[in-house]
Amino acid sequence: MAEFKEISPDAPVGAKLLNWVDNRFPASKLYNEHVGEYYAPKNFNFWYVFGSLALLILVIQIVTGIFLTMNYKPDAALAFGSVEYIMRDVPWGWLIRYMHSTGASAFFIVVYLHMFRGLMYGSYRKPRELIWIFGCAIFLALMAEAFMGYLLPWGQMSYWGAQVIVNLFSAIPFIGPDLALLIRGDFVVGDATLNRFFAFHVIAVPLVLLGLVVAHLIALHEVGSNNPDGVEIKAHKDAKGNPLDGIPFHPYYTVHDVFAVSVFLMIFTAVIFFAPEAGGYFLEYNNFIPADSLKTPLHIAPVWYFTPFYSMLRAITGEMMYALVACVAAAAAFTVLKGRVAALLKGAIALAALLLIAAMMVTDAKFWGVVAMGGAVVILFFLPWLDNSEVKSIRYRPDWHKYLYAIFVINFIVLGYLGIKPPSPVNERVSQIGTLFYFGFFLLMPWWSRLGTFKPVPDRVTFAAH
Ligand code: HEM
Repeated sequence: MAEFKEISPDAPVGAKLLNWVDNRFPASKLYNEHVGEYYAPKNFNFWYVFGSLALLILVIQIVTGIFLTMNYKPDAALAFGSVEYIMRDVPWGWLIRYMHSTGASAFFIVVYLHMFRGLMYGSYRKPRELIWIFGCAIFLALMAEAFMGYLLPWGQMSYWGAQVIVNLFSAIPFIGPDLALLIRGDFVVGDATLNRFFAFHVIAVPLVLLGLVVAHLIALHEVGSNNPDGVEIKAHKDAKGNPLDGIPFHPYYTVHDVFAVSVFLMIFTAVIFFAPEAGGYFLEYNNFIPADSLKTPLHIAPVWYFTPFYSMLRAITGEMMYALVACVAAAAAFTVLKGRVAALLKGAIALAALLLIAAMMVTDAKFWGVVAMGGAVVILFFLPWLDNSEVKSIRYRPDWHKYLYAIFVINFIVLGYLGIKPPSPVNERVSQIGTLFYFGFFLLMPWWSRLGTFKPVPDRVTFAAH
């Protein structure tokens, strides 16, 4: 137990109160460790505001969600009407609902930018692998949260979107149909589905999300932030043990974040007040029609933040399977012929490739589409071990690495765009090429990330006062 600290009887009341608390709970200690004396690199830039913005949106979603729950009815006969009631009759209900629906899209925009920053500056690399892994788990939880939340208004898109996605699980060999039944709680999406999605959306997933965010931040504060130069500031410390290139989080980065929050709120409120549907991207028009199990909409598309992954799902057709089989065969042949691995391992790789190819030939392409969609997220977890580049930050990598990253981003946006559009032969072909590029980018990273001429990394961070 820490020693009991005495305080002068003449001290101000506030100081006495804080001392009383500190003797029973580490309030000042926690504040100093995580804010007041938390030293962050002095060269943070624009890209470093998205973590705090994600935290802000998390709070907005929880608070508005609590108020929505007060008037929402998780019942297939009442849900749609209860949302209309919130929009028209509940005082300020429209604002709460639009904050929540716009908040969902804002969350994904901010988290995608936050993840891209990590990719650019190599923030996932040693010693920050766990920060990244917790981040990937947050991303998965966020996807589950958004997917289940979308069923709740019980509109046509809610209903049919859930129907399509839950049906995908039935493509899994052996356990698929039972798994889909377990998720739905019925043979079609129905009242039972709505009730369980409600339970997951309002309490189960948010609890997991909160736990993961806490773990993400604890891991971050254990090792300290990376920065745009990708150099470790802890390598150079002053006599007090503080990093020479670090500055206390408060006030330097609190002011930075307050500025970012102000700009964010201007954009966020502009969307809420002037374009809450965002042209059908944030709230799809079909979702203003009550769910009807007898009327399938002509075109079913998920909300924009899922569409890159949805494109990859649709890209895996019977024809595409031949291309994938060729990729597996080529990778196995290359490892066996050129790889510097033991003969026994080569044999095992050849056998595994043959088994995989056999499985690919006999199972439905739809199943591999599901594998591609899930794999596109799962592969992110492995990023810390895929990147073999000798430097962390994009700043000191060969220029063509930058172009490759730019193509990666454009490809992701194109996949997202194609996922919104109805299928067509051209869209299908482009999304197949995009899917191959997406996986190629990650799977070949151990090779390409080592190539090229790297620039010398400075010993200390580069910083120009502004
Ligand atoms: C609810 C979602 C999330 C919240 C609230 C959150 C919060 C934060 C905060 C506050 C920081 C420190 C400030 C900053 O560096 O921007 C941070 C850093 C970081 N986050 Fe997240 N994060 C979230 C999701 C993610 C996701 C999905 C990933 C990646 C898959 C991720 C990866 C990282 C990494 C690698 C860092 C360290 C960056 C560096 O030091 O350069 N985070 N996060």
